[in-house]
Amino acid sequence: AELGRWPWQGSLRRWGAHSCGASLLSHRWVLTAAHCFRDDRNPKEWTIQFGELTSVPSLWNLEAYLNRYQVDRIILSPSFAGVPPYDIALLRLASPVTYNKNIQPVCISASMSKLEKLTDCWVTGWGDVEEEKNLPAPYTLQEVQVSIISKAMCNHLYQRSDFGVAIWGDMICAGDPAGGKDACNGDSGGPLVCDLDGLWYQIGIVSWGVGCGHPNRPGVYTNVSQHAHWIQKTMAHDGSPRLELSLLLLLLTLPWTPRCVGPT
Ligand code: ARG
Repeated sequence: AELGRWPWQGSLRRWGAHSCGASLLSHRWVLTAAHCFRDDRNPKEWTIQFGELTSVPSLWNLEAYLNRYQVDRIILSPSFAGVPPYDIALLRLASPVTYNKNIQPVCISASMSKLEKLTDCWVTGWGDVEEEKNLPAPYTLQEVQVSIISKAMCNHLYQRSDFGVAIWGDMICAGDPAGGKDACNGDSGGPLVCDLDGLWYQIGIVSWGVGCGHPNRPGVYTNVSQHAHWIQKTMAHDGSPRLELSLLLLLLTLPWTPRCVGPT
């Protein structure tokens, strides 16, 4: 990818090392997958890096360290039971993210009905570039265009296979029928975004797959719009008294511009 094309993309790091993808929703809130916290729910052990093309910055890249933010709360979907569905989590940051041309939030919407009609959709991340093949140095953010596959088609594809898994609830599928275009391990929690009338909306969170990039085995994502109300509710009740005041000031001083990013 090019720097600044996906300015909401974050690298969610455990003990400083990349572990999952994530996306920026506002100055204080980040969206990712709940399964990323299977082994560790202690916010102190996690940071998120924004605004960098590499997931492994060199030691003298001071800016990359300034672009790391501490997590102060990890909120998993109350319905998540260790495996999908409900593979979604919100992270509250300990300090607000400073926006710049490489760090901007993504839109989400509760009313994304005809997902299959979206034509310009991309998934991004620092995960494996092939099954069992780690992203090589210099660890540049990767992007791939995928198509949204209907639940009916996805179930048809997955039920034909020997393991016969079901796509249901909040799961959505995306990929390429021929294979080769997919997320992979290490991309989990990262965003699947689509351009809708000049604005980028996050419609999915990388959740699971069967291998990576196999024909007829599309990647499976958490449907973000299905969780939009939970996201809004959680972001609104964050227990910070300063939020209401700053929100009021923001509303008074800013014109009604979209707070997520349009075409560049
Ligand atoms: N669960 C994986 C992770 O933790 C993501 C797998 C996505 N796989 C896929 N084929 N789309 O990084």
